[in-house]
Amino acid sequence: MSQKPAIFIARKVFPEVVAHLGHHFQVDMNESDEVLPPAELIARLQGKQGALTTGSERVDAALLAACPQLKIAANIAVGFNNFDVPAMTAAGVLATNTPDVLTETTADFGFALVMATARRVTESEHFLRAGQWNKWSLDMFAGAEVHGSTLGILGMGRIGQAIARRGAHGFGMKVIYHNRSRLDAALEAECKASYVDKATLLAQADHLILVLPYSASSHHAIGAAEIAQMKPTATLINIARGGIVDDAALAVALRERRIAAAGLDVFEGEPKVHPDLLTVPNVVLTPHIASATIPTRKAMAMLAADNVIAYLTQGRPVTPLNAEIIGAGARA
Ligand code: GLV
Repeated sequence: MSQKPAIFIARKVFPEVVAHLGHHFQVDMNESDEVLPPAELIARLQGKQGALTTGSERVDAALLAACPQLKIAANIAVGFNNFDVPAMTAAGVLATNTPDVLTETTADFGFALVMATARRVTESEHFLRAGQWNKWSLDMFAGAEVHGSTLGILGMGRIGQAIARRGAHGFGMKVIYHNRSRLDAALEAECKASYVDKATLLAQADHLILVLPYSASSHHAIGAAEIAQMKPTATLINIARGGIVDDAALAVALRERRIAAAGLDVFEGEPKVHPDLLTVPNVVLTPHIASATIPTRKAMAMLAADNVIAYLTQGRPVTPLNAEIIGAGARA
């Protein structure tokens, strides 16, 4: 009997996902769950036809050249800015991500940050834990309204739409959005969302939430100039990717109260966080957990596994990013 092909799981995943992959492959996994330095990742990928990666592992031309047997990298994330997709396509290596399975969970968390930021949940908890609460006052931790306010969404893919539905239908918010392309009329009506240009979005949103992918063109899409166009009472929420917001400029704006508050799940250069963000009180900080429920994280890892299985056994991945390589363009 011929040996099963070998694959590598770059971070620790759930046992049932490993068992699922084990039916088809010899599975090697980074049990330490530490992010492997590039040279170590390359070493572990030798002889492997497939890899399950997370946003922490970079798959670029250098890695592809050093791992000639690699045919697929399956990201356990919907975002894939850790992949150099053109380089993968040029090398005939398939890239996949995990859309859909995390949409509702991530939208829930986006709303959690809107609520926590507007209503000063963590700031007031820190005050209480510090033993500073000795009386009730009318204006103590008075925040911003969520219901009935204007929700601005920058980036209107599946997650943006799911946030719009929550805002419009659940909280009676007026929803405005800006995106590279406008939604069709039926989808706009279903989300109760109106398309506006970016300047109008910045000027009118009471709560501005970022849900766009990171790329060179979205780098610092929100910097000092954009923040200056926002209402002084507004909040800014980033659940998309670090680098979309200029974190240093945001920290200055928060300290000077040019906007009221921010809620951040993602950071430039994470897991490092800009030190100035750690010292301003009016920011809610979470460690990139928007999709983190056990069922959703399992579904993401299982979809990545299914992509590797479907591609390496039948040539038909579930959620490819560069399907054009399948066939003649793919590594043999
Ligand atoms: C998480 O950030 C993801 O892209 O899935």
